Amino acid sequence: MTELILALDVPDRKEALNIAESCAPFIDAIKVGYPLVLSSGLSIAEDLASPGLPLIADFKVADIPNTNRLICEVVFSAGFDAVIAHGFVGADAARACIEVAHSHSGKAYIVAEMSHPGATEFFHDGVAERIAALAVRCGADGIIAPATRPERVARLREIVGDKAIYSPGIGAQGGDLDAVARLVDGVIVGRSIYAADDPAAAAERLSRICR
Ligand code: C5P
Repeated sequence: MTELILALDVPDRKEALNIAESCAPFIDAIKVGYPLVLSSGLSIAEDLASPGLPLIADFKVADIPNTNRLICEVVFSAGFDAVIAHGFVGADAARACIEVAHSHSGKAYIVAEMSHPGATEFFHDGVAERIAALAVRCGADGIIAPATRPERVARLREIVGDKAIYSPGIGAQGGDLDAVARLVDGVIVGRSIYAADDPAAAAERLSRICR
């Protein structure tokens, strides 16, 4: 089974909560990022608690170790179950996020490679491979890898073994669910669900392919 994670990039609090509620039966986790948290505040984590799904804070944390630690403490204290952090900042900075996550019995995922076209400007020449190896070395719970490039996901799988791979980029960014579903532990889908005329129906359709 491949998990289906809803990227709830909906800046309107009420609309976000309605979408989360209607999609809840068909999804395995909710990812919240800056669009929703900056508009609604960190208390959105409490508001989203009722479907009982894991909440992933996608803040792509990328600062010095001490600041990363402070950010992650706030994230987990707010009620999130997992955080997404960048790995390019180095092992000490990534480790700070991972340690805080684990001290809260939460999880930390490291971005190994981004999914948009511009990502290849810097994520080439083995950079993503090195970040994936860093994630393994630092004890991260998994990595984020691009559904827009299944061959890259397959390559990064060789490095992370049975650690989780969560993959954004399906649909709106051009990624094909069928091409990555069996390579990853979960797919992260935003616009193809929340911007659909019927988000719950879209989530149900995708969840059938995942299962
Ligand atoms: O709307 P769409 O399905 O493209 O949303 C993808 C989500 O995954 C967004 O929240 C985006 O910020 C996030 N993401 C991504 N690529 C990464 C890491 C995260 O698209 N490498």
